[in-house]
Amino acid sequence: MKDLPFEGAITKFFREEIAGDIREAIETGDKDDILSATFPYRKRMEEKEYYDQLEALQIELVKLLADVKETGKRVAIVFEGRDAAGKGGTIKRFRENLNPRVARLVALPAPSDRQKTEWYFQRYIPHLPAGGELVFFDRSWYNRAVVEHVFGFCTPDERERFFTQVPEFEKLLVDEGIVLIKLWLNVGRAEQLRRMLKREADPLKQWKLSWIDVEGLKRWDAYTAAIRDTFARSHTGPAPWTVIRSDDKWRARLAAIRRVLARVDYAGKDAKVVAAPDPRICGGPEIWDV
Ligand code: ADP
Ligand code: MLT
Repeated sequence: MKDLPFEGAITKFFREEIAGDIREAIETGDKDDILSATFPYRKRMEEKEYYDQLEALQIELVKLLADVKETGKRVAIVFEGRDAAGKGGTIKRFRENLNPRVARLVALPAPSDRQKTEWYFQRYIPHLPAGGELVFFDRSWYNRAVVEHVFGFCTPDERERFFTQVPEFEKLLVDEGIVLIKLWLNVGRAEQLRRMLKREADPLKQWKLSWIDVEGLKRWDAYTAAIRDTFARSHTGPAPWTVIRSDDKWRARLAAIRRVLARVDYAGKDAKVVAAPDPRICGGPEIWDV
């Protein structure tokens, strides 16, 4: 790996705490190598193939959004995953050619003191889609299940109440006619670290890093346990999880778009383009891997 321009907290963590396979994978891996040993491919996908497929799928998204507007559908897509799993980057490719007013992004900051006294789901409700809208949640109410739990921002009782309420809450949305799609981006430890090291070294990407990311690196196993609980308690009939393996961010983006295109009916769907996502990349919680 090239020398980094400065030594920050992530580099320090990497040098001091990471040894063995993960360290070796990061230090010796070529940029096209997939670092996770259990990932179904060894190299990231070809650039031309990615852009060709992305363009065809983005044309389908334009049709989907036109249909959503025309028919007044309401679509909410939840993006979850560990830090650096690729949520923001994936959402960006979804929205690239869509009207930002109807394909809205919701990325809420930490709750205010007032919000902390509200019913937990309350602050998300105003952001749900109205008719003709497609809303992308970059993180969501699942903060309580994972990051708030790992960092002690909620009590065990609050989290338990969340898990009791979330299936009911989501069933209400679905019964109401909202199309709710929950995507979990699954990144391996070596790839997560590689992305964070890259962000730390890149002045244009440093904004993506926060102390939560740095601290979170030390809490990999606590995250793993919290994610396992989350699937066990919130993978329901009305609102199932889709897990997307995102060690290769290009394959992950294509799979996420395909998943959404497959889930929503829209006029003019091109069956040749909208094939099912790659089953080795995209499935249910059974493909989740740590
Ligand atoms: P992101 O990865 O979304 O860019 P961070 O890694 O900084 O953001 O934080 C992860 C999540 O934790 C965010 O959704 C943030 O709002 C939430 N969070 C941060 N601090 C708190 C807090 N004190 N209480 C509850 N949630 C928090
Ligand atoms: C994340 O997943 O950490 C963020 O949403 C940013 C990204 O990876 O694109």
